[in-house]
Amino acid sequence: MKGRMGRENIMAKKIIPIPKEEMKRELKISAIGEGTVIDHIPADATFKVVEILDLQNHNGIVSIATNLQSKSMGNKGIVKVAGKGLTQSEVNKIAIVAPDATVNIIKNYDVREKIKVKTPDVIDNVVKCSNPVCITNNEQVATKFYVVKKDPLKIKCHYCERSMGKDDIEII
Ligand code: CTP
Ligand code: ZN
Repeated sequence: MKGRMGRENIMAKKIIPIPKEEMKRELKISAIGEGTVIDHIPADATFKVVEILDLQNHNGIVSIATNLQSKSMGNKGIVKVAGKGLTQSEVNKIAIVAPDATVNIIKNYDVREKIKVKTPDVIDNVVKCSNPVCITNNEQVATKFYVVKKDPLKIKCHYCERSMGKDDIEII
């Protein structure tokens, strides 16, 4: 009974799709004054970037756009974060889910620096091994993966040799 009620509540909140013409007008996201713009994210990794940067808990303005048309890649995403710089560790994590991303550092509305992320050869303590019996899931051992292929990403666990593709990747 309860379950049925719940389902009805969700149905009532159904989102009406935005007509295509209106979506075109939505593509422009405001420029930011100070902060970071992560551009050229594959559309299916946009929210992974949001998660990596823990933007749910960021106090400044965060603008997220995904499924934007891009000339250089398929559909892309952009994440703009006002009032935040990225650590090297955050940039390295982004490279794992978005190998072609550009990190733009914005100062006084200008792009002060443009960093092209780079997929590392070894990934330390960032990705969770998908093998439940791997030592890294059972003891206090940091994960370590070797990058076998960069695009599409294929990595191999140093400990159990489990191979993982981009869709299996869970960031710690
Ligand atoms: N941007 C922003 N706020 C600013 C300046 C730039 O949000 N004050 C954004 C732009 O919208 C763009 C990104 O930062 O998404 C990079 O800006 P820019 O280098 O000017 O754009 P492009 O030349 O298109 O970048 P690229 O060559 O990397 O595609
Ligand atoms: Zn493993």
